[in-house]
This record gives sequence, structure tokens and C-alpha cells, in this order.
Amino acid sequence: MFNSLFRTKSIEEKNDSGLKKCLSALDLTLLGVGAIIGTGIFVLTGIAAANQAGPAVVLSFVFSGIACAFAALAYAELAAAVGGCGSAYGYSYVAFGEIVAWTIGWILLLEYSVSVAAVANGWSGYFSNALSAIGLALPESLTKSPELGGIINLPASAIIILLMGMLIKGAKQSAHLNTAMVCIKLMAIIIFVSVAAFNVHPANWHPFMPFGWFQTLPGGKTVGVLAGASLVFFAYVGFDAVSTAVEEAKDPQRDIPIGIIASLGFCTVIYIVVAGLLTGIVPYNTLGVPSPVAFALQSIGYKWASALVSTGVIAGLTTVMLVLYYGLTRIILAMSRDGLISPFLSQVNTKTHTPVRVIVITGLIMSTAAGLVPLGALAELVNIGTLAAFVLVCLGVIVLRRKHPDLYRPFKNPFSPLFPLLGMASCGALMGFLPHQTWTRFLLWLCLGIIIYFTYSINHSKLNR
Ligand code: ALA
Repeated sequence: MFNSLFRTKSIEEKNDSGLKKCLSALDLTLLGVGAIIGTGIFVLTGIAAANQAGPAVVLSFVFSGIACAFAALAYAELAAAVGGCGSAYGYSYVAFGEIVAWTIGWILLLEYSVSVAAVANGWSGYFSNALSAIGLALPESLTKSPELGGIINLPASAIIILLMGMLIKGAKQSAHLNTAMVCIKLMAIIIFVSVAAFNVHPANWHPFMPFGWFQTLPGGKTVGVLAGASLVFFAYVGFDAVSTAVEEAKDPQRDIPIGIIASLGFCTVIYIVVAGLLTGIVPYNTLGVPSPVAFALQSIGYKWASALVSTGVIAGLTTVMLVLYYGLTRIILAMSRDGLISPFLSQVNTKTHTPVRVIVITGLIMSTAAGLVPLGALAELVNIGTLAAFVLVCLGVIVLRRKHPDLYRPFKNPFSPLFPLLGMASCGALMGFLPHQTWTRFLLWLCLGIIIYFTYSINHSKLNR
């Protein structure tokens, strides 16, 4: 039994996927930027500033960024050394054994699926805003989840169904298309920065830290810079998606570490600048709205800039959802092919050459969640799952160095095991700053995963046959 839990795939057992090795380091960096920049910076910055950190949300971004940097170094080492199937699930199966791989895979399912639903919420805020601007405002009850006093967040639900249709048809993830969409997103940011830089009122940065470092309020809500850090962590989710492109990278052992680290570094700088400017142009307590960046530009009288930024954000968030939704289906396929979840899900439609069953089932679930659960709760659930995966990946570096000391490692963590340990500590700390309710939901998810593993996966695993 114990042996079954820790059975591994052999490192040599890397299937040739037939995918074209066409992505350069620059393509990979842009892929990362494409998957990273989204709701976190365009929506959650406002919520975290208004409710948790005040102007010190800038520090929240710095703390989260540092934790992610350690995790990114760990991802870079494992992706370059183990590679293979690409995702953390895939190489943890090769490196650490089935139960760890299952746990990471199960957590990744949570990360990707809930991210899509959460980003759909952010998308809906900007989309509804744009509709109102052209006189086509939707009734408020159709743009809010029941918890926020509405009936359903219809745009959030609908966009996922639309993406489902696109993915069924076969969304081609070409590097060129991604580059174009990243450009649109970056244009929105450049416009915001250029306008905001000349409209800062330093008085808005006072008080800088109205909620202190960290406190738990009577209802269980957490506030302060560190609570803000654990919320805006969501903005960094997605750099790990670069590791899913190992099989399409021209020189994965060199370029994947570059792609992961460069995209994360680039986005961190952007986030700190945008968060600083946003809280500098309007009072932080006005930013708790669904589209804070557009709102702030509007309030300082730049309607044209607000409209342009909104358009850029709508396009940008669409790509984040598409990439994460695509990633989700890919991970489910991998787990299903390994026998850990039902083979029913590994069928690829012969006409469209896409995994229609997985796309439809996951699409319907995510669409329902996006319509009925508000963004904050969804984002925190993604964060706790992703942070847990990061802790395991950091631990993986240490374990693998002991288990396979001679494995060729094109990229090595500096100061190992110090850096991976700091990664575990900082990601673990961010998990600790999340509310109890999020922990309860996450632990329920893990229990469900463990039950499924012991009642189904352990017996149906391909390695069992
Ligand atoms: N990091 C991505 C976003 O902020 C998930 O939307």
C-alpha cells in the first residue's frame, strides 16, 4: 500500500507528444505575461486597497511578489530538470510519487477552474461598465451574485459558455495571437500609467497603512498589509502556466526558467507601479468597486482613457480565462490518461480533435460558480490552493536534490535549500493570513481529493496495471 502511494513514473518515460517545438524564450515570457496580468491588478488592487491595506497595498504586492519569486525559482529548476509532461502535476509524478502528484493535480484543478470563474467576475465588472457607458446598462440584479444582493452575475456566467464554444471548436494558442493580446493589455497599462503619473495627489497616500499589518476582525474577516498580500497574490497566479509549455519550447532547459522568471519579474514591477499610482490619484476608500482602474480614471476626468483602458482590460481578461481554461482541460486529460480520474474524460472528439467532454463539464461547473459566488471568495480559494502547490513544489526541490543528486539540472536554485525553505515559509505564511472560511473550504477540497484517491485512483492508476 505504502509503495503504491509513492510509486513514480520513470524520469526517462517522457512521451513524445508530437507538439511542435516552436516557442522561444521571448514567446514563453509573453505567454507568462499573458496568463498573469488580469483581474488581480485590474480589480483586486482596488478591493484590497479599499478593504484591507489602504495605499500600502503596494507593500502587499511586494510581499506577495517575493514569495512568488522563491516559488518561481523552484518551478524553474524542476521544469528544466524533469520537464516531461510539463505541469507541476506531471513532473511531480516523475519526481515524488503518485500521492504527491495526485495532490498537486487535485489542487491545480482547483486553481485553474476557480481562477477562470474569478476572472469571469472581474471581466463582468468591466463589461457591465462598458455597456452602461453606451447606454445599455444591465439590471443590477443580473450583474451580482446572490451574496451581494443580486440574482446571478449573468455576464460572468455567459463569457465562460462563450469560451467553452471557442475551445470546443479548437482554440489555437499561437504565440503570435498571444503576443497581440499581451500588447493590448500592456497598452491599457501604458495609458493608465501615462495619465495617472501626472495626476497623483500625495495626500491620497495618507494614511499609508490605515489597517496596520494584520488583524482579524470580529466576523472573521482579516485586514492589514499581510491580509492584502494574501489576496493580491491572485495577481501573480499564472506564471506557473509557463511550465505547461515545456513540450513546445525550442530549448526548454534554458528557456523555461527564463520565461518563468522574466515574466514574473516584469509583472511584479508593473504591479507595484500601477498599485502606487492607483492609490495616488483617488482616495483608497473609493476603490472597492468592480472596475477600479477605469473608475479612478473617470473620477479624475479622463473618460476617454477610462474607455480605452476598459476595452484593453476586457480583451486582456478574456485571454487569461482562455489560457487557464485550456490549461485546466490539459491537466484533466493528463490525469485521466494516467488513470487517476475516469477515462471517460480522456476521450478526444474525432471531428473537432478537442476533449469536448472535459470542456463541456468543466465549462458548465465554472459558469455556474462564476454566476453565483462573488470574486473575493473565489480569489481567496484560488490563492490558498496555489500557495499550497507552491509549498509542495519548493519542498520538491529539496527532496529531489536528495533523491536524485546526480540528475542534470540546467537551472539550479541559488542557495538551496535556503531559498526553497524561504519559499515554503513565505507561501505558507501567506496561506496563514487567509480567512478561516477559506481554510475550511480548502480542507474540504483536499479531503474530497483524498477520498477519491483512495476509493478510485489508487486502483485505476496506470502504474497499477
Ligand atoms: N493572475 C491572473 C489574474 O490576475 C489569474 O487574473
